[in-house]
Amino acid sequence: MVVDKDFRVSEIDDRIYGSFIEHLGRAVYGGVYEPDHPEADENGFRKDVIELVKELNVPIIRYPGGNMVSAYNWEDGVGPKVERPRRLELAWRTIETNEIGTNEFVDWANLVNSEVMMAVNLGTRGIDAARNFIEYCNHPGGTYYSDLRKKHGYEKPHNIKTWCLGNEMDGPWQIGHKTAEEYGRLALETAKAMRLVDPTIELVACGSSNTGMPTFPQYEATTLEHTYEAIDYISLHQYYGNRNNDTANYLAKSMDMEHFIKTITSTCDYIKAKKRSKKTINLSFDEWNVWYHSNQKDKEIEPWSIAPPQLEDVYNFEDALLVGSMLMTFLRNSDRVKIACMAQLVNVIAPIMTENGGKAWKQTIFYPYAHVSAYGRGVALQPVVSSPKYDSKDFTDVPYIDSASVYNEEKEEVTIFAVNRHLKESVELSADVRSFEGYDIIEHIVLENEDLKAVNTATSQAVQPHSNGVSTLTNGIVEANLGKASWNVIRLAKRK
Ligand code: AHR
Repeated sequence: MVVDKDFRVSEIDDRIYGSFIEHLGRAVYGGVYEPDHPEADENGFRKDVIELVKELNVPIIRYPGGNMVSAYNWEDGVGPKVERPRRLELAWRTIETNEIGTNEFVDWANLVNSEVMMAVNLGTRGIDAARNFIEYCNHPGGTYYSDLRKKHGYEKPHNIKTWCLGNEMDGPWQIGHKTAEEYGRLALETAKAMRLVDPTIELVACGSSNTGMPTFPQYEATTLEHTYEAIDYISLHQYYGNRNNDTANYLAKSMDMEHFIKTITSTCDYIKAKKRSKKTINLSFDEWNVWYHSNQKDKEIEPWSIAPPQLEDVYNFEDALLVGSMLMTFLRNSDRVKIACMAQLVNVIAPIMTENGGKAWKQTIFYPYAHVSAYGRGVALQPVVSSPKYDSKDFTDVPYIDSASVYNEEKEEVTIFAVNRHLKESVELSADVRSFEGYDIIEHIVLENEDLKAVNTATSQAVQPHSNGVSTLTNGIVEANLGKASWNVIRLAKRK
């Protein structure tokens, strides 16, 4: 491997360490908010959860959905709580109490030092609801909706900068699903109205829900044909699973993600060329993760219950390895991926889990996310890697060593992230870092486990990192042992 300070991919947008909270299962009720919990603050927010979210250092959180947003009336969630309606939540077939809505969520996001990425309903609603909503959130005052916000106790506007124009509108499961033509027209007209209310916002248009959609990538192309000059980002979503228990193939799935990103980047640039535009559309990978463990169990959920355990995947060690690879994929593509949201943050396919009334704890996937969020800020460097390769069921030439590097100029630190996908053998890494003169290795963090299926629970952290990785730096060459099936974070810093 060669890690050179001049091989710059891009300045990393911190928002690639974003996440997502949907009104779904126990994400909000039981995760973010549990007024009877011993750790609840005066507003009912769980302080133990707040601490764990802060540990992840999440710059932006998408809200309130997800599929849920496509039938959501934002007005239900504002104003006096006693007057808020209980609704049938159609996307997940539960009861939504609306105890938490926009204002409370903005308060909570402030507590965890995150900005909110707000989604508007383009399923059952459209231009009118969206323009009223942004007036409520962002207009200073003196009009009906901005004064309504003040009446609700929020004198100052929330100034929410990033807005999603609907959610997964390409998916037939979506309430108010639309063809690309229908969606593109609606997204454009909604974008125009929202920008008239607040010209400083950034807008994200829906793309494909995953690479397996029959309309991928034409959905993006048609949407961009309509919206190109009115939006800033196109959205990508992708979840993976190891349903056939083929770990070699599973760990290679980040290559599909890379292909997804490259395809949509090309699609954006094709439309740019067609339109003779000077503007570049970037990518918002605003839902990504592993999601499959809970699929079967979720079929047993009683309809119309309140905040049932839903999509509660318990992640194992191999999931953490794939999550590490997915994060590194964003780093290598950070010239175009400017926002990414791990879906989701608490209880629902999440790095943080809670027990109602009990503990909050870290899933296996918490660790790679925390590491890349902590040490992956700065400039992404183009790794030049020569690695042995393998073929799997769906992929050819899968490098055993998957890696990315980040240079933090301000802190004078360089970090090499690497997954060894080999399930039986360790790999000796030799990394040429001669361009970083006067640097030493300060830490080699490793996440490893003999059991690929090991999980964490409320009472055991069977999968957690240690800092006993074996690596040396001599004459500008890092020599490191990357254990079989392992996640590695090799940190270098300038000698003081
Ligand atoms: O994150 C869970 C669901 O996955 C979201 O609601 C939806 O957008 C996607 O299909």
